[in-house]
Amino acid sequence: MSAKPRVVHELPTDLDRNRLPRHVAVIMDGNGRWAKRRGLPRTMGHRRGVDALKALLRYCRDWGVEALTAYAFSTENWGRPLEEVEFLMALFERVLMRELREMMEEEVRIRFVGNLQALPASLQEKIALSMEETRDNRGIWFTVATNYGGREEIIRACRTIAAQVLRGEIEPEAIDESLFEKHLYTAGICHPDLLIRTSGELRISNFLLWQMAYAEIYVTDTLWPDFDRTEFYRALSSYQKRERRFGKVGSRE
Ligand code: FPP
Repeated sequence: MSAKPRVVHELPTDLDRNRLPRHVAVIMDGNGRWAKRRGLPRTMGHRRGVDALKALLRYCRDWGVEALTAYAFSTENWGRPLEEVEFLMALFERVLMRELREMMEEEVRIRFVGNLQALPASLQEKIALSMEETRDNRGIWFTVATNYGGREEIIRACRTIAAQVLRGEIEPEAIDESLFEKHLYTAGICHPDLLIRTSGELRISNFLLWQMAYAEIYVTDTLWPDFDRTEFYRALSSYQKRERRFGKVGSRE
């Protein structure tokens, strides 16, 4: 029996294909509250969160966004109750294995950024496998920030560069933005143009601190599991109404 062809979502007609963000980053907040409101365990919110993320990846791909980065687990998230942390680690593993075949079919290139060595060994194996398997795909770049912290990433880059200076391999004057970026987890990935955060919080919570310097920020009160096509359309619509000045004087002045 042949596989059912996948529905390709059309870009909403009032969005401008030429002014889409190349890279969308997302802070998927509100899974716990979503579950609590329904009298369900928090873990159920995370499960539904995975569905919302999967749907968003498809919209990005179908509408022509080149890269999606999702904040799955921060360096601060270890402070959650042990059983929730263990659930999340097991969920990441299960999802990775379950979705690998479809990611191959859809040409997704998956990457993980963060301090991956601190993750359970079995999860590290699945991460390595999924990155290796999807490496030659030609579709959307899907980056998952796991045990990621923006400050930790910057300090790690500083340490590496400082060691190179100590060894006399580079002069301090040679340190510029382009050299610095080469030592970030995200080396080679374009900076996010649009950051979406759900559940109304007006913070960036240690996510891509360096990379987000000129990202447009869109916050919605919607909880992550409810973030759907309409919500994404609204975020893109808001993005397309903005004038990105990158610190310069805009055309409206
Ligand atoms: C924040 O909601 C959500 C998380 C910490 C986990 C998000 C992870 C996923 C959706 C799974 C992604 C999986 C893969 C493999 C990419 P919260 O728990 O902080 O919600 P609350 O603020 O309402 O408590």
